[in-house]
Amino acid sequence: MPVGFRPPAGNPVAAAPVRRHSARMAVDHFTGWIAERYDESAAETFVPAVVDPVVDLLTDLAGTGAALELGIGTGRIALPLSARGTSVHGIDLSSDMVAQLRVKPGAERIPVAMGDFAATSVDETFALACLVFNTIMNLTTQEEQVACFRNVARHLEPGERFVVEVGVPDLRRLPPGETARPFLVSPTRLGFDEYDVAQQRLVPHHHVLTDGQWRATSIPFRYVWPAELDLMARLAGMELEARWGGWDRQPFTAESRAHVSVWRKPG
Ligand SMILES: C[S@@+](CC[C@H](N)C(=O)[O-])C[C@H]1O[C@@H](n2cnc3c(N)ncnc32)[C@H](O)[C@@H]1O
Repeated sequence: MPVGFRPPAGNPVAAAPVRRHSARMAVDHFTGWIAERYDESAAETFVPAVVDPVVDLLTDLAGTGAALELGIGTGRIALPLSARGTSVHGIDLSSDMVAQLRVKPGAERIPVAMGDFAATSVDETFALACLVFNTIMNLTTQEEQVACFRNVARHLEPGERFVVEVGVPDLRRLPPGETARPFLVSPTRLGFDEYDVAQQRLVPHHHVLTDGQWRATSIPFRYVWPAELDLMARLAGMELEARWGGWDRQPFTAESRAHVSVWRKPG
């Protein structure tokens, strides 16, 4: 699977009003060199061929309204979305990731609330909320994923939408009795997904060779089924509007490795 910032004075992060709906402490896995090298290590996802279809669809869905990106990170999607004229707000746990966003041109237009997106709210409502690039799986319990849908629903105006991009669990490729599967093997990058199918847990282990040194990350995920997400949306008062096999709105089929799903808050 494809895989903390001290706000400077006057930064909109510091000013954004924030409320939390849970005492649970989420863990920040995107610290230090992981944040510093995020753009470089995910370089293939920053190219226009990948970013443009995402931004096209999100711009379409937001219309003239504002968008909230959960797990905004270094702004891979938020910056071009904002550059197209959509007002974008973000939530993120990692001050190191947001520090990377803050040094980029255009970031001054994007307020970010620091906290867990399953529990953090900002005092605004939005036409669109989005959670892309498998990031829903960073919530490692079903309870947290349900809480995330409920948190999003609180931020949406009636009739408005929540978009999630996430992989379809790859269990058909895991041979019986095995717990690990390679997803990336090259001289400079190795990736193995480690599964615990009883707990619905997945740990992608990434090993990257940079400057002659191997660096490893193992960020825990909870994989989640499309139908389970639909139920979470229903628990939060939303209904499925569309499910595509990708950002170009291609059909979602039995062979789709990922999906882009849109739930709508009735209005
Ligand atoms: C894989 S990165 C994606 C960043 C960006 N959306 C992109 O597409 O490049 C995941 C981001 O979500 C943030 N994140 C993960 N779990 C979170 C949580 N529970 N609450 C807030 N942010 C979280 C991480 O700090 C990181 O910035």
